[in-house]
Amino acid sequence: MNFINSIRVKTGLLVGLCLLSILSLKAQRKMNTKPTDLKVLVLFNTESGGTYKMAKAMAAGIEKFPGATAVLKQVPRIKALAHEDKQAFAQVPYASIDELPDYDGIAFGSAVHFGNMSADMRYFLDQSVGIWTARKLEGKPATVFMSAGSGAGREAAILSFWSTLAVHGMVIVPTGIMGNQEIDKTLPQGNTAFGTTSLAGANAVTRPSEGELHLAALQGYALAKAAKGYQATKDSAPMAPLTAAKTNSTTGTIAAGSSTIAGAATRSKIEARLKALNITLPDAPAPVGNYKPFRISGKQVFINQIALNAGKVDHPGMVGTEVTEEQAKLATRQTLLNVLAVLKQAAGGNLDHIKQAVQLTGFFYTAAGYTKHAVLMNEASNLLVEILGENGMHTRATVGASSLPMNSAVEIQAIFELE
Ligand SMILES: Cc1cc2nc3c(=O)[nH]c(=O)nc-3n(C[C@H](O)[C@H](O)[C@H](O)COP(=O)(O)O)c2cc1C
Repeated sequence: MNFINSIRVKTGLLVGLCLLSILSLKAQRKMNTKPTDLKVLVLFNTESGGTYKMAKAMAAGIEKFPGATAVLKQVPRIKALAHEDKQAFAQVPYASIDELPDYDGIAFGSAVHFGNMSADMRYFLDQSVGIWTARKLEGKPATVFMSAGSGAGREAAILSFWSTLAVHGMVIVPTGIMGNQEIDKTLPQGNTAFGTTSLAGANAVTRPSEGELHLAALQGYALAKAAKGYQATKDSAPMAPLTAAKTNSTTGTIAAGSSTIAGAATRSKIEARLKALNITLPDAPAPVGNYKPFRISGKQVFINQIALNAGKVDHPGMVGTEVTEEQAKLATRQTLLNVLAVLKQAAGGNLDHIKQAVQLTGFFYTAAGYTKHAVLMNEASNLLVEILGENGMHTRATVGASSLPMNSAVEIQAIFELE
C-alpha cells in the first residue's frame, strides 16, 4: 500500500513538473514574440514645407501603433525647386512608383493646388498604370492629408484625390470627427471629415497649427490600425473568379457555375488558348496542412502540387510497379493543371498577368535505379509551353523520391514571375 502511495505522489509530482515547464515554455514564447513588422509609407509633395511638417506628424502617429514603422518619402519633381537643397525636406528620399505595393498602407500628402492635388503628385500617380492593371494596390489602406492656403477647395481636393485611390481599389481611411474635441476651436483649423489639412494662409499661429499636427498624428494611427488588418489578410487567396453565369429562369438571378462565359473567355488570351486546347482548369486544391497554396515574394509566385483530382490522387503509387509510365504521365499532367489553377488564383484570376514561367521541379515516386524522370516530366513542360507559349519556357529539375505525399506518383514545385 505504502509503495502504491509513493508511486502516486511521484506521478503527481512528475505531472505537476511537466505542466509547469509547458506553462513556462508558453510564457517564454510569448515574451520572445517579436511584433510583426508593419511598414507604412508616408508619401508627400511640398514646395514650401507645410505638407512635409504634416507628413512628419502623420509618421509619428503611425509609429505610435505597436510594431508599425513609417517610411517618409517624397514624390520626384517634374521641375527642380529653386534652392531646393536648402529646404528642410531636401534630405527626404524620392519614392519610385514600383515600391508602392511593398507597403501595408500609404498616406498621401500634397499641397492643395486649385482644389486638387499638386501636379508633381498627379504626374507621379499617372505612372502607376502597370501596378494598377496588375491590381497590386487592391485592398491596401490609404489616406490623404493636405496643406492648403486659405483652405479654398480643400475638401474637394481630398475627394478628387480619393478617385485615383478608388480606381486602384484601395481601402480609403477617412478621419471622420476624430480629435475634433481636442483642438483649439477659437482658431480656424484644417480638420475635415475626409482627411487632415493645414490652413497655411490663416494667420494667428504658426502653421500647421498644433491642432492640425495632432489631427495628422491621429490620422496616421488610424491608417496603421487599418494596415494591420490588411497585413493579416493580404495573402489570402482571392475569391474564385466567375467562370460561368446561369440565369435562373424563375427568379431571373444569375448564379456562378462551372463552364466559361463566352465574353470572359475572349477577354483573356490564355483562357482563349485553354479553350482552343479543350482544357478546363480544375478547381485549385485546398491546402491539406498548415501552408498556403501559393506565396508571392516580390514578383515571383511559388507553388507546390501533387496529382490531386477532386480530393483524390490520380494514379497513386510507385512508377514502374503500381503505376505504368502512361499513368504517371496522366498524373503529371493533372499535377501541372493543379499548379495552373493555383497560379490563376495568385494572378488575381487572370493568367494573362503571368510574365513567364521560371522553374519547374518534378519529383517522381520511383524505385532506386529509375532513370526516365525526364520523359515523365516532359508531359508537364510540353503542356505548360502549349498553354503559355514562349512565356511557358522554364528551367527544370527532376528527382526520384522513395515516397510522396498521399502516395502521389508525382509532385511539382513551380516558380513563375508575375508582370
Ligand atoms: C498653383 C497653386 C494653387 C493653389 N491653389 C490653392 C487652392 O485651391 N486652395 C488653397 O487653399 N490654397 C491653394 N494654394 C496654396 C497652397 O495650397 C499652400 O501654399 C500650401 O500650404 C502649400 O503647401 P506646401 O507648403 O506643402 O508647399 C495654391 C498654391 C499654388 C502654388
